[in-house]
Amino acid sequence: MSRVVVLGPASQALGIRVARKLGVETVDTEFKQFPDGEVYARVAVNDEAALAGQEAIVVQSCGAGRGPGGSQNARLVQLVMIVNALARMDAASVRVVVPYLAYGRQDKVFRPGECIFAHQVVTMIERAGATAFYTVDVHAETVLEALSIPAWNVSSMPALAEYLNTKTLHAPVVVSPDKGAVKRSHVFADYLGEDVPVEAFYKARDVVTGEIEMTGELAVADRDVVVADDIISTGGTMSSAIEISKQSGARRVFAVCTHPLLIQNAVARLYSAGAEEVIGTDSIDSEFSVVSLAGVIADALTNDDAQ
Ligand code: R5P
Repeated sequence: MSRVVVLGPASQALGIRVARKLGVETVDTEFKQFPDGEVYARVAVNDEAALAGQEAIVVQSCGAGRGPGGSQNARLVQLVMIVNALARMDAASVRVVVPYLAYGRQDKVFRPGECIFAHQVVTMIERAGATAFYTVDVHAETVLEALSIPAWNVSSMPALAEYLNTKTLHAPVVVSPDKGAVKRSHVFADYLGEDVPVEAFYKARDVVTGEIEMTGELAVADRDVVVADDIISTGGTMSSAIEISKQSGARRVFAVCTHPLLIQNAVARLYSAGAEEVIGTDSIDSEFSVVSLAGVIADALTNDDAQ
């Protein structure tokens, strides 16, 4: 039985990097949008039996971000179409890698009358024919509990820390932008080095307006700060964290995230707030995606093989 990586439209470069790490062939996809807005995607094979009996690994992030055109909704529909096509064509297994899980932040009921859509999204992927599911630094791991197939939340932290460690940090301290990210920040600090401390803000977001308020005192004077978050979207959270770090006497402040959605004027906000550098992964294609997830994803796929 052979194995292939199927290149989702949103993650072609990452898919190729993963395939190279695994030493396997890639299969392209074809995609377009019909004039009425409907999405179309297919696995680019000429023969219905081309992938029968093969292990397929699909890589497709689902962020709108700055990557090649397409909303997160279009990305999701493309993914479901590709997964279902592979299952229908009798692939032996369809392992699905979704580095950025769209709707991952809609993981609970914040206001009456809401749907927990993060759970619906992963259920849809499973129903399409996925036999295993992988995501990276998902906003809330509880979403994986909605699945009945094996599911993994891969950590980007070893890869991000390796990059940060090339910066010769001075007395580094990791700043967690909210209480929910403290656990993750401690893991990240451990990857950065021995005895790297973690400081945290209190962050409250108004569920109606989306406005955030951050408070807290930080012991960061004369230290290099790494603010680590799962997502930078509008840059509101990160720019507040940078500003407060700077006001608290930080030297350089590195704005680090797994998923650099960087919508609207996020980049300007981050640099205006005083960021030394904005660092993200190739979960989303952007000029700030300087760290590849290929290694940690390939490792997760390989470890899963061993189980
Ligand atoms: C929220 O809890 C997340 O972890 C991020 O902090 C948030 O999604 C970032 O969004 P924004 O960049 O719009 O503040």
